[in-house]
Amino acid sequence: MESFADVRLATARLVLRPLVPADAAALFAVFSDRRVMRYWSSAPWATPETAVELIAADREALAAGRHLRLGIVGRAEGALLGTCSLFNLSGQCRRAEVGYGLGPEAWGQGYAVEAVGELLRFGFADLDLNRVEADVDPRNTASIHCLERLGFAREGLLRERWIVAGEVTDSVIYGLLRRQWQDRT
Ligand SMILES: CC(C)(COP(=O)(O)OP(=O)(O)OC[C@H]1O[C@@H](n2cnc3c(N)ncnc32)[C@H](O)[C@@H]1OP(=O)(O)O)[C@@H](O)C(=O)NCCC(=O)NCCS
Repeated sequence: MESFADVRLATARLVLRPLVPADAAALFAVFSDRRVMRYWSSAPWATPETAVELIAADREALAAGRHLRLGIVGRAEGALLGTCSLFNLSGQCRRAEVGYGLGPEAWGQGYAVEAVGELLRFGFADLDLNRVEADVDPRNTASIHCLERLGFAREGLLRERWIVAGEVTDSVIYGLLRRQWQDRT
């Protein structure tokens, strides 16, 4: 895989760019929030070091083209609002999984659709992906609306796929194929 270290994407209201050490406090604020992590695949972050470590690990993963996580930054105020990612990349199958999360003060303004829409454009047009998939808790209405708005199709239910902090949860798998994405653009 090619390096993602210099990937920088932009939309009308947002810039998507790799995380930098100065993002640590804002990143921790987002992912230590119980509301953000209610349906996430891990518990809320407990210590600020988790943010510092993730940013350091991302640097390597981006350079190696293993994982593309980008900070979502508001153009107007320059604040880090959250992140979006393409991960579990398969070069042979030209497939990736998508993930995203925003701090609650940024919810409900169309930012997720705007950011993830641009990330998908990059994935299909620049990385030549054929399929992007998402694994969502069936109770995560906001995320499901977001995926459906972006053109993803519901493909199936995987029962009791996650156990997070003792809670056993199901996954709904959503998929978006390149040809369906092209038909929409
Ligand atoms: C999921 C999440 C990223 C959505 O972010 P957002 O910026 O508020 O989403 P958008 O404003 O782009 O809205 C997308 C669509 O979902 C709808 N929506 C948003 N929040 C909703 C909610 N709580 N209930 C129902 N619909 C909702 C919006 O109305 C919009 O649909 P529309 O365009 O048809 O009106 C945000 O809620 C979040 O960060 N949640 C916590 C982390 C998480 O669960 N991530 C996903 C893991 S799979």
